[in-house]
Amino acid sequence: MAKIKVCEYKEVPEGDMKKFMPKGIPIAIYKLSGQVYATSDMCNYDGSFLDENHKMHNYMVECTIHNEQWDIRTGEVVLPPATEKLKTYKAEIVGEDIYVDLV
Ligand code: FES
Repeated sequence: MAKIKVCEYKEVPEGDMKKFMPKGIPIAIYKLSGQVYATSDMCNYDGSFLDENHKMHNYMVECTIHNEQWDIRTGEVVLPPATEKLKTYKAEIVGEDIYVDLV
């Protein structure tokens, strides 16, 4: 798939994330220090949605159900019990909007 517009930049709160469903895919868009990042919105440990159960720790997102954490920049596991990387997507700001490459 190609790069598509997911939302407007102003829709995502600074220091947190928001879920969007481009092409029916649950994507979490994060805004930290004005930069944007994108990951799957689905916890790969037990399948819950991160936007409904999360805490941010700077660049780490925690799924608050079992407290695992990933680095949203790379998807790497920071805190178990997760063992799998969180799917990340390339996100960029274009004018007033945020685009994500859904590859
Ligand atoms: S469901 Fe996400 S850590 Fe358990």
